[in-house]
Amino acid sequence: MKSICVIGSLNIDLVAAVERFPLPGETLTSVGYSTFFGGKGGNQAIALGRLGANVSMVGKVGGDIHGSDYIRHLRMNGVDTAGIRVEQDAATGTAMILVDPQGENQIIISPGANGLLTPSDIDECWEQLLEADIFLFQLEVPIGTVAYAIKRLKGAGKTVILDPAPASQLPDAIFKYIDYMTPNETEIKYYAGRHQQYVLQLKEAANILLRKGVNTIVAKAGADGAYLIRDVDLQHIAAYPSEPVDTTGAGDCFNAGFAYALATGSTPEEAVGIGNAVGALAIRQVGAQSAMPSKSELDTFLRQQALLRLP
Ligand code: RIB
Ligand code: NA
Repeated sequence: MKSICVIGSLNIDLVAAVERFPLPGETLTSVGYSTFFGGKGGNQAIALGRLGANVSMVGKVGGDIHGSDYIRHLRMNGVDTAGIRVEQDAATGTAMILVDPQGENQIIISPGANGLLTPSDIDECWEQLLEADIFLFQLEVPIGTVAYAIKRLKGAGKTVILDPAPASQLPDAIFKYIDYMTPNETEIKYYAGRHQQYVLQLKEAANILLRKGVNTIVAKAGADGAYLIRDVDLQHIAAYPSEPVDTTGAGDCFNAGFAYALATGSTPEEAVGIGNAVGALAIRQVGAQSAMPSKSELDTFLRQQALLRLP
């Protein structure tokens, strides 16, 4: 099995369930509240750990209790934490999340220590990084650090997956180092150019990114599954049925499932299907990490679904 390294954010998620989202200036009372481990990087690492992947993480937490709790939590889930630094004077990243009855969310991020991850942090663990084969990035740590690491790792012959979330401006020079870019619908429109007067068709939008140098686009489409786009062909890979309770982190789970499948020798097509399955399983409970499946839960689900799909 190839090994995977996640370079990204670690947040504590403060999650309030609301009947509806508040209007500007409005105060609402929540109908439920909990805190969870989250952050796109942490979510991807934990999902990989649950699946039994050979996974490590590079990131930064604060010198508060949340930071040490998170490191322990990662270890308990099988994630190698040697690449996680503690920034004593910073706070661990926080996400304030509202979830409505349809499972939709609104999120405000306070990056804290995540915002302090620098290129020299990447250099410091370089030897350890070289031990991994597949790298997963998101955009909740500084873009300059992401761009630096992607370029250096690609130069070292590694496989680079970028989940370009949340949508943020990327240097044009970075696209050619990306093997798989996994935007959702909003993100793909953003990266294809946000000034267009009309909504570009998915294929046109993907082509813009391919022309910039991305090797393969995996466009996540939520309940509609995902699209694998290379050169001229666009392949739709159907979603699995699910009843969303909280879609927070669904994209992270998709990426984890996708990377895990690549690491275990699946084709990109198969890997998108595994990404869809891990995403579908994870949205059944409140909290990004609460319903992430183990390998055997994933296998059981895939077997059941295969039976359901028999003619
Ligand atoms: O992708 C979901 C994550 O985004 C949440 O866990 C939250 O921390 C935000 O960063
Ligand atoms: Na969830």
